Amino acid sequence: MLILGVETSCDETGLAILDWDGDGNVSIKGEVLASQVSLHEKYGGVVPELASREHMRSLPLLCEELFARTGLSLTDISGIGVTCGPGLKGCLLMGITFAQGLALPRNIPVFPVNHIEGHILSGELHEPSLKPPYITLVVSGGHTEIVLVEGLGKYTCLCRTRDDAAGEAFDKSANLLELQYPGGPRLAAHADSANPSKRFTLPRVAREMDDFSFSGLKTAVSLLIKRNREEIFSSPEVFAEVCWTIQDSIVDPLVTKTAKEVKERKLPLVVCGGVSANSALRRRLSEKCSPVYFPPLKHCVDNGAMIAYVAGRYLQAGVTPPNIDIFSRWPVETLRDFYGAQHG
Ligand code: KG4
Ligand code: ZN
Repeated sequence: MLILGVETSCDETGLAILDWDGDGNVSIKGEVLASQVSLHEKYGGVVPELASREHMRSLPLLCEELFARTGLSLTDISGIGVTCGPGLKGCLLMGITFAQGLALPRNIPVFPVNHIEGHILSGELHEPSLKPPYITLVVSGGHTEIVLVEGLGKYTCLCRTRDDAAGEAFDKSANLLELQYPGGPRLAAHADSANPSKRFTLPRVAREMDDFSFSGLKTAVSLLIKRNREEIFSSPEVFAEVCWTIQDSIVDPLVTKTAKEVKERKLPLVVCGGVSANSALRRRLSEKCSPVYFPPLKHCVDNGAMIAYVAGRYLQAGVTPPNIDIFSRWPVETLRDFYGAQHG
């Protein structure tokens, strides 16, 4: 069973073809990705209208490249998974329209996929021995949540952010430090070159608080920079120290709350989403939780393979594709009802 995945929820256009053999083993036949970083760089963030247009331009080119590379054709495809949310409406619409355009004339089923479920299941895609129940920490530019996975489509959110996502906190702080978009990985690189330091302090999310909250960080970082501007921008060491402090104030609550859930429930952990590329987060979670799985970096960020994987899993489970719609907000807890009681 060959499944094509289409991802366009934000600023990456991703396509992939996954193959299921008769025993349910999955392999990636091919994947292509076009990042829009250079397009949005000069605006300091994603411009939704530009992002949509760029998806529209890239989709046919990438699709052609993918089929040429794999030597496959559309007639080989049994189903198409497409991201229907959460994400930017215009961007989602581009992916959906493209997928439907490919599928309708050929009667290929189109399966609506939740982007966050894609991130969550990227652990199982890479670690076939991993079976629910387990815990996932989803940390991306738009999402920060700890999710209990009890089966396909059976997700309970144990902790989520009340305001900004962890990636957003990285990016906003990086912006204040005049680092180019996307600032998260750049700030992290400076932080990694610094020694742990207590010279600067930033407020932490209260450890006893049930949820994450990162919106106060931006104001605190802005104040810290204002008070120490000259020193920060004249000394690379001090600049790196500030980056370390910011990174620590984001990573620490992520590690503390995740480790608590993992210990209490005695379950494996999967860390996914763009921020899971962060080396301090990886190191600290690996020290505190075992076993812990990190999908490869190319599948931590947005990609088409995770979307094809979700569609393939539901199709294998005999679930009829629900109607396609756009969901700019789409909590993963609602998936139990969305796919109905069609699967165990
Ligand atoms: O999952 P993703 O690719 O896109 C969304 O669905 O949001 O995540 C992108 C986010 C951005 O905020 C980016 O700054 C952050 O992940 N990110 C990082 C690192 N690499 C990417 N944040 C901290 N450290 C990194 N190494
Ligand atoms: Zn994502």
